[in-house]
Amino acid sequence: MSVFFHESTKTFHLTNGAISYLMKVLPNGALGQLYFGRAIRDREDFDHLLEMKNRPMTACVFEGDRLFSLEHCKQEYPAYGSTDYRHPAVQILQPNGSRVTDFVYLSHTVSPGKPPLEGLPTTYCEADDEAETLTIRLWDTLLQAAVDLRYTLFSQHPALARSARLVNQGDQSLHLTHAMSLCLDLPDSDYEFVHFSGAWARERWMKVRPLEQGIQSVESARGTSSHNHNPFIMLRRPGTDEDAGEVIGFSLIYSGNFLAQAEVDTWNTTRVTLGINPFGFDWKLDPGEVFQTPEAVMVYSDQGMNAMSRTFHRLYRSRLARGQWRDKPRPILLNNWEATYFDFTEDKLLAIAEGARKDGVELFVLDDGWFGARSNDSAGLGDWHANLQRLPDGIAGLARRVTELGLQFGLWFEPEMVNRDSDLFRAHPDWIIAAPGRRPSPGRNQFVLDFSRPEVVDCIYDQMAALLNEANISYIKWDMNRSITEPFSQALPPDRQGELFHRYILGVYRLYERLTTNFPHVLFESCASGGGRFDPGMLYYAPQGWVSDDSDAGERLKIQYGTSYCYPISSIGAHVSAIPNHQVNRSTPLATRANVAAFGTFGYELDLNRLTAGERQQVREQIAFMKQYRAVLQFGDFYRLRSPFQGNFTAWMSVSPDRRTALVGWYRTLSEANGPFRRVRLRGLDPDLCYTVDGGQPHYGDELMRIGLITTDSGAGECQPGERPICDFDSHIFVLEAYEEKNT
Ligand code: DGJ
Repeated sequence: MSVFFHESTKTFHLTNGAISYLMKVLPNGALGQLYFGRAIRDREDFDHLLEMKNRPMTACVFEGDRLFSLEHCKQEYPAYGSTDYRHPAVQILQPNGSRVTDFVYLSHTVSPGKPPLEGLPTTYCEADDEAETLTIRLWDTLLQAAVDLRYTLFSQHPALARSARLVNQGDQSLHLTHAMSLCLDLPDSDYEFVHFSGAWARERWMKVRPLEQGIQSVESARGTSSHNHNPFIMLRRPGTDEDAGEVIGFSLIYSGNFLAQAEVDTWNTTRVTLGINPFGFDWKLDPGEVFQTPEAVMVYSDQGMNAMSRTFHRLYRSRLARGQWRDKPRPILLNNWEATYFDFTEDKLLAIAEGARKDGVELFVLDDGWFGARSNDSAGLGDWHANLQRLPDGIAGLARRVTELGLQFGLWFEPEMVNRDSDLFRAHPDWIIAAPGRRPSPGRNQFVLDFSRPEVVDCIYDQMAALLNEANISYIKWDMNRSITEPFSQALPPDRQGELFHRYILGVYRLYERLTTNFPHVLFESCASGGGRFDPGMLYYAPQGWVSDDSDAGERLKIQYGTSYCYPISSIGAHVSAIPNHQVNRSTPLATRANVAAFGTFGYELDLNRLTAGERQQVREQIAFMKQYRAVLQFGDFYRLRSPFQGNFTAWMSVSPDRRTALVGWYRTLSEANGPFRRVRLRGLDPDLCYTVDGGQPHYGDELMRIGLITTDSGAGECQPGERPICDFDSHIFVLEAYEEKNT
């Protein structure tokens, strides 16, 4: 792996054998982009890739030179205001009102490994030979300001991590209005723009549109990455599928307002920008101050989307997620939310926990409703001490009883929120985000605490830490149930109000950092009304996240499938819930609810005591199955086989690292009468290994991958003795085990 710099042509070539990234200092000193894609051999001179042309009516950089205009040059960190009319990566409002900047190459350094970005979640290395980092300093002499562009190339992943740092070394204050994490100019627009969008309970549905001249984007201005859009997009060549074709994934390690944009210009070049949403953003950079953007990660694959996803999964699972839980199979939990909502007593909780323990559950999680004056969603948030009417011996007492049953104990918090009816609000009404003279808009009867203020974060930390110190808590579900409105902080001066959203999320990260550092044994699960903040920033602190409040197995197929494009299966919080389902009022078989949740962290969200004896037996078998296979399901190589967005069938699979075990999830939405014979071609197996399927007839890996696994089952009304009756929302997990040594 190497970072080459060719002095004579001022060309950078980053390559790890799998991918190459080429940049060059342009004639005016700005940094140009030449290539990103599959690795190419190095050479001194790639100048022929610089597309220069005398275009009529084009503004040019130098008098007398009609060939060179930034309007048609591909660039690394472009600004608006000179000869480039596309949306910029950086824009700075200066004291005289000008927004024109001129950042040119000054110097660069190369270092082994990857330095952290203070206060921000990032990918990391555990050894210096895992990556190399190139930092290029661009300099604007008039402003006396620098941009440090940082590129980390991983030795084992076709992935490049990027960020930018702005440094004000002048003597006047500057206002950053655009500071993107990444810009990539591509030479053509023959791509499809793929994004993962939706709503509460319908998160991360896959959406595809062709690129064409103009701007396509997804974004958030809500203060969270949001249910509505995700800070992850793909550009793929038309015809690319899961197993073949070119695709680039762009992911932002950030949990706040973001913009992911592709702009196609007059000459069909494509500019991708990704970073903090410039909408409403205005960061004042005083003399001597620096601003660090979040990190963005680009992954390239010429072997389809599955390969791209596996790169993200491996990288994010092992070098973004951290802590004691990072590599461990996750405990099978039971969460009481859908079992009781706010209607519980300690005895009721213990009865649910006891039932769960009997069936093999390992962790009991007490959700919302245990604190302050909370008996519904209009009171109590902010008062993080137990409601002694419900829990006479407090959280410590309940945790003790639960652990005495043989279960671990987990607890729900919503640290960033406050109800008007709370001691915290009564003591500090000015701690909420609200604009002077304007009525603050409620959301779920609650208001957002101003986490840009360190004293607010400290107050919440102290309350949470007190509980973690006094009670035996091994898991925390960190919820966040509304978006930000009336964005204004009483602690910020007028010329810094545009910093609020970013400062807010930095406060969230600070609290997470303190808690995970001081209570390293605790497993954190992030949540924001389900999947409203399911992003890589959260993964850095919480290795798993509640993927959606929609727990219906049919809906979950789409949500989990869409989520899997960027996020590892070990991060996907998935539970079996009661029927009729509480979100869509649909009834699906217990087996299917478990077969969907199995490709996630797996748990239950219902009172198991209410099930029939037969269902309890099924639950016991499901839990035993998960204990046997969860390491493969959560940490194996994941392949999407058939998309729920394209038809009646969904299939996916996880393969163990040694390729000796594979689990294939197969799901049919609606049953069919007298249907055709069906097969699904598997992926990732060892072609020379022989696998038993569900303990039965053995098949070689090559056969299963090239001919396929036969999934034909009985049709309606044709059920043979011994076969399970077919139904809507049917499913099966096929277990493949290698049963002999390789036959080569
Ligand atoms: C929203 C979450 O997504 C649910 O799982 C639950 O924790 C509720 N909040 C509790 O208020």
